[in-house]
Amino acid sequence: MRALLVMVALASLTGGCIGTESTEPPIVGIRNMYNQPRYDTQERQPFFADQRSMRPQVEGTVSREMVMAIDAATGLGAQSKEWIAVVPQRITKELGGVEAAVARGRDRYNIYCAACHGVSGDGKGMISRRALALGASGLVAPTLHDDRLRHIPDGQLFATITNGVRNMPSYAHNVPLEDRWAIVHYVRALQLSQAPVAALENTEQPK
Ligand code: HEC
Repeated sequence: MRALLVMVALASLTGGCIGTESTEPPIVGIRNMYNQPRYDTQERQPFFADQRSMRPQVEGTVSREMVMAIDAATGLGAQSKEWIAVVPQRITKELGGVEAAVARGRDRYNIYCAACHGVSGDGKGMISRRALALGASGLVAPTLHDDRLRHIPDGQLFATITNGVRNMPSYAHNVPLEDRWAIVHYVRALQLSQAPVAALENTEQPK
C-alpha cells in the first residue's frame, strides 16, 4: 500500500498536467506485457541452427499473396515474353466486368495518379505544376494522351504502374494488383475520351 502511495505521488510529480507534452515514456506500475521480448528483422537469434530470426519459407510452400499467373503479375505473356495487349480476362472478371473495373480504376486513379498526371490525364496535376514552377522539369508527369502512350500495350501500362519508370515511383506497394489493372482500364477510358476521331476508328475495344 505504501509503495503504491509513493508511486502515485511520484507519478503526480513527474507526470505533468493534462495538455502538457512530454517526451518521457509513460509511467507504468506493472510492466508485465508492456515490454515484450522480440527479435528485430535481421537480428541474430540462437534458437534455430542457422541463427536467423527471419525464417525462410518452408520448402514446397507458396505464399498466399503470390499470384501464379505470370501475365497478371507482370504484364508479360507467359510464353511470348512480350507485353500483353489487353488486361487478362480473369482479372477483368474478378473486378466485376469492364464497367465496374473502369469505375474502380477512376477511384484509384484519382487517388494515386491525378496528383501528378492530372484528373483528365493531361499531365497538369498539382505536383507537376509545382515542379514546373520550381524548374524541376524532370518531375513533371507527362500527358497520357500522346500518341505513344495511347498505343502502348495494357501490359506495359500495368508494368509502368507496378515498377515505376525513370522519375516515376513504383506503386506496387500502395496499390494492390487488381487495382493496378483497374487503373489500366480507366487510363484506357480516359485516353479514349480524349482521342482524336481518327484514332478512335482503329482502336480495339477491350472485351
Ligand atoms: C509523383 C508523381 C507521379 C505519380 C503520382 C504518378 N506518376 Fe506517372 N509519371 C510521373 C513522371 C515524373 C513520369 C515521367 C517519368 C520519366 O520519364 O522520367 C511519369 C510517367 C508515366 C507514364 C509514361 C511512361 C512511359 O512509358 O514513358 C505513364 C503511363 C504513367 N506515368 C502512368 C501513371 C499512373 C497510371 C499513375 C497512377 C498509378 C501514375 N503514373 C502516378 C509522375 C507520377
